[in-house]
Amino acid sequence: MADAQTATQAPNVTRREDYREPDWRVPEIALDFDLDPAATRVRTTLWVERNGTHDRPLRLDGDGLTALNVKVDGAEATGWHMDGPNLVVPLAGSAHTIETEVEIAPERNTQLQGLYASSGMLCTQCEAEGFRRITFFPDRPDVLSRYKVKLTADKTRFPVLLANGDPIAQGDLEGGRHWAEWHDPFLKPSYLFALVAGDLVANRGSFTTMSGRDVQLGIWVRAPDLAKTDHALAALKLSMAWDEKVYGREYDLDVFNIVAVDDFNFGAMENKGLNVFNSRYILADPDTATDYDYDAIAAVVAHEYFHNWSGNRVTCRDWFQLSLKEGFTVFRDQSFSADQGSAAVKRIEDVRGLRASQFPEDSGPLAHPVRPDEYIEISNFYTATIYNKGAEVIRMMATILGPDKFRAATDLYFDRFDGTAATCEDFVQCMEQAGGMDLTQFRRWYSQAGTPRVSATLAQEGGRARLSLRQLVPPTPGQPVKEPMVLPLKLKLFGGFTGRPMCDEQLILLKEDAQELVFENLSETPVLSINRGFSAPIVIETNRTAKDLAFLSAHDDDPFARYEAMQQLMLDTLVTSVTNGSADHQPVIDAVRNTLTDSALDRAFVAEAVLLPSDSFIGDQMALVEPEAIFRAREALRQDLGTALEGEWRAAYEGSLANRFEYSPSAKGARRLKTVSLGYIAASGAADADELAFEQFSRADNMTDRQGGLTTLVNGASPLREEALEEFYKRYQGNGLVLDKWFQAQALSAREDTAEMVERLSAHRDFTLSNPNRARSLIGAFSVNQRAFHHVSGRGYRFVADQLIALDKLNPQTAAKLIPPLGRWKRFDAGRAAKMRSELERIVASPGLSKDMFEQASKSLD
Ligand code: PHE
Ligand code: ZN
Repeated sequence: MADAQTATQAPNVTRREDYREPDWRVPEIALDFDLDPAATRVRTTLWVERNGTHDRPLRLDGDGLTALNVKVDGAEATGWHMDGPNLVVPLAGSAHTIETEVEIAPERNTQLQGLYASSGMLCTQCEAEGFRRITFFPDRPDVLSRYKVKLTADKTRFPVLLANGDPIAQGDLEGGRHWAEWHDPFLKPSYLFALVAGDLVANRGSFTTMSGRDVQLGIWVRAPDLAKTDHALAALKLSMAWDEKVYGREYDLDVFNIVAVDDFNFGAMENKGLNVFNSRYILADPDTATDYDYDAIAAVVAHEYFHNWSGNRVTCRDWFQLSLKEGFTVFRDQSFSADQGSAAVKRIEDVRGLRASQFPEDSGPLAHPVRPDEYIEISNFYTATIYNKGAEVIRMMATILGPDKFRAATDLYFDRFDGTAATCEDFVQCMEQAGGMDLTQFRRWYSQAGTPRVSATLAQEGGRARLSLRQLVPPTPGQPVKEPMVLPLKLKLFGGFTGRPMCDEQLILLKEDAQELVFENLSETPVLSINRGFSAPIVIETNRTAKDLAFLSAHDDDPFARYEAMQQLMLDTLVTSVTNGSADHQPVIDAVRNTLTDSALDRAFVAEAVLLPSDSFIGDQMALVEPEAIFRAREALRQDLGTALEGEWRAAYEGSLANRFEYSPSAKGARRLKTVSLGYIAASGAADADELAFEQFSRADNMTDRQGGLTTLVNGASPLREEALEEFYKRYQGNGLVLDKWFQAQALSAREDTAEMVERLSAHRDFTLSNPNRARSLIGAFSVNQRAFHHVSGRGYRFVADQLIALDKLNPQTAAKLIPPLGRWKRFDAGRAAKMRSELERIVASPGLSKDMFEQASKSLD
C-alpha cells in the first residue's frame, strides 16, 4: 500500500509555516480517460508555467502511479525521474507542455479515494489528495486550472458519462464504446475534479437564476432509486434560491448534477458542477427514511451547493485553511435549515451535535485549532473542530458585526477573492474592513484550541446586582498557556418574582480574564439568562439554583435559553446523583411537567426540551467517567419521570398520533414527541409499554415511527424485541441504507449485553467493513454507546481495535475516523484506561499501518 507506514519510520509532518507558493502553475489541463474497472488509461496534458524566477524542476505528485510515458513539448522525454511516488521533470524554459500516461485499476481501489468502483459505476473522490491517485499533478489547492475532460467507456455498462462543467460533445465508437467531452470554464484546484460513469437515470429539474439564466438540474441514481430523489431535488432548488436571496450568490454553469453512490467515505463532495453524494444523503421516501434523514438530506444538499461559492469560486490556499470553506459553509447550511422550519429547534440540534462531537475532541488528545499548525495526514483534519467549531467562529463574527455589516463583509470577500485561493486571514480582514472593527484579539479563535470555560456569578446587594465573569481557556496538546478570547455573550435578566424581563437583551464582549457588570435600580431579585442562543461556543458555569433554572425553563423568552436551563437542571441533578448515589428528582419532574403541558409550545421544541442529556454528555461533566453509575442515575431519573408523569406522557402520545404521513414541521414535531413519550412510558415500566411500542412499529406508515418503535423495543427485554428485529430485517433485506439502521439500533442499545451482541453482529452475513456506512453503523455507533463500549471487561475496546486494524487494510481514512473514542482513556479509571491504552498500542504496532491510523492512534496515546 502506497501510504503504508510503520511505527519505526518517522512520518512526515506538514507545517503551516512552511507554506510557499507553487513553483509551477498549470493554467490548463486536458484529461483523456479510457475507462475500464480493471484497467483505466489516463492520458494527461498539462500546460505549465514557471512561477517566478527559480531553476527548480516540475514536481508532480503521484500516489501509487507508474509513468508509462512522459513527453515534454511533444517529444518523448528522458530526463525525468521518480522521487518516491512523485514524478520530477527538469524543464529549461518558462512554459512547457507535459504529457503523461498511467494505468489504474478502479475496481481494486478499496480506499475510495481517486477513481473507484461502487455498485457497478465508476466515480472519483479527490479531496483532499486523491487526484494524485489518478494522474501526476501538483495536487495542492492553490494550483488552479481550466479543465477539459474526455471520457471513453463501454456504452452498455456505462451509458452515462459525466464530468465537471458543461457537456461539449459526445459520440459512438466501434466495439460498443462511446465517448463524451466536458469543459469546465472556471478555474479550479485538482481536489474539485470529478467524473462519473455508470448505468444511471436522472430526476431532472430546472432553475432560473436571478439574472434569468436557465440551469438544468439532474439527480443521478440507479433506476430503482429514482422514486427516492424528489426531496433532494426540491432541496437543491430551495438552496439555489436561498443563496441568491441571503448572500446574493448566483449559480454559474448551465448544468448542475448530483450523483448518489453507495460507497463513500464522507457525506458528500462539492466537485464543480458535479456533486458526488453518499446515497444516504440523497435517497428518501417515507417508508425508508426518517424525518432526521429528510432534514439531513436537505442540509447536505444545501451544504454542497453553497460550496460553489464558499469553496469553489473562492477556494483554500492550503489545507490549513480548510475551515475557511468548511466552517463558513456549515454556518451557511445551518442558517438555511433554520430558515426552513423552527430556528430554535435547529439551534438546539446544532448545539447538541457540537457538544457531542466537538467538545470532547477539544478536551482530548486530538484537540487542534480551527486553523491547525501541522498535520501528518490531512484526511484526519476533517473534524468537528474544523467544521462545527469553525461554523461557530463565523457565527460569532456575524453576531458581533450584525446582519447588514456581515452581509457587506461576505460580499467584499466573494468579490475580492473570486477565482483565487484564499486564507482564513483574508476572510477576517474582510470582516474587519466591512464591519469597521478590529478583530485582532478575536483571531485567537483560529489559533487557540480548547473550549473556553466561563464562570458567571450574579450577586445581589439591595437594588443592584453585580455580575462577575471569568474566563479560562484550558491547556491543550502543544498549547500549555492560553490568552483570553473574545466571547460574545448575549444576556438578559428576568424578575424572579414577576417573571418579567428587567432589561433588553444585551450583547457583551468578554475580552479580559475577568470582567464585572453592574445592574442598578432592580425592583426584584434577578435571574440570569446568559449565552442566549448559544452566542459563544463555551462551557458556562453559573451560581443559579435549581429554582432559578426551573424558572427560566418556564419563562425565558429565548427558546434556546429555556432548553438550556432545562438541560442544566437535568445535568446538575444527574451529576449529583452519580456523585452522591441519589438526588432529588422533583425539580426536574416539575419542570418537565410544566414544559410538557404548556400548550403554547410547539411539539418539536417540547420533544427536545424534555430529553435527558446523553450518558456521554453527563460523563463529559465529570473528572472521572463512571459508565455504569451514570447509566443507573440516568435510568432512575427516566423511570421517575416516566412514572410521575405517566398520564401526561400518554396524553402527549395520543395527541401526537397522526393518521397519515406528511413531511411538515408540525407533523415532524408530532412524530418526535410521540416517540420521546413512548420512551418515557417504557421507562415507567408500564405493563402495556412493549405492546404499545410494537404497535407503533408495526402500524407505522413511515420510517420515523417504525424506527421509534423498534429502538424502544431494542433497549428492552420483551419477546417482541426479537420479533420486531426479525420483521424489520425481512422487510428491508436488500436495502443497504435501512439495514444500516438495523445494525445501528442494536449497537446503540442500552442493554447490558450489547457488547456481546455487537460482536455477534460483526459476523452477520450482511455485515461488511468494505462499505463505510455499514462499518460506521456498527463499529462507529457501538463506540459512542458509553455503557456498552466501556464494558468493564474491556471486550468493547478489544473488539473495536480488532475491527479497526482490519478496516485499515481496506480503507485507512474511514478507520482513522473511528479512533477517537479509544483516545479518551484519561477520563476513565485506571483499569479501563490501561485496557484502552493497550489497544491503542496494539494498533500502533500493527504491521503495515497507514499513516492515517498512525497519526490518530499515536497522538491518542500521549
Ligand atoms: N468537502 C466535503 C464537504 O464537506 C467533505 C469531504 C471531504 C468529502 C473529503 C470527501 C472527502 O462538503
Ligand atoms: Zn463542506
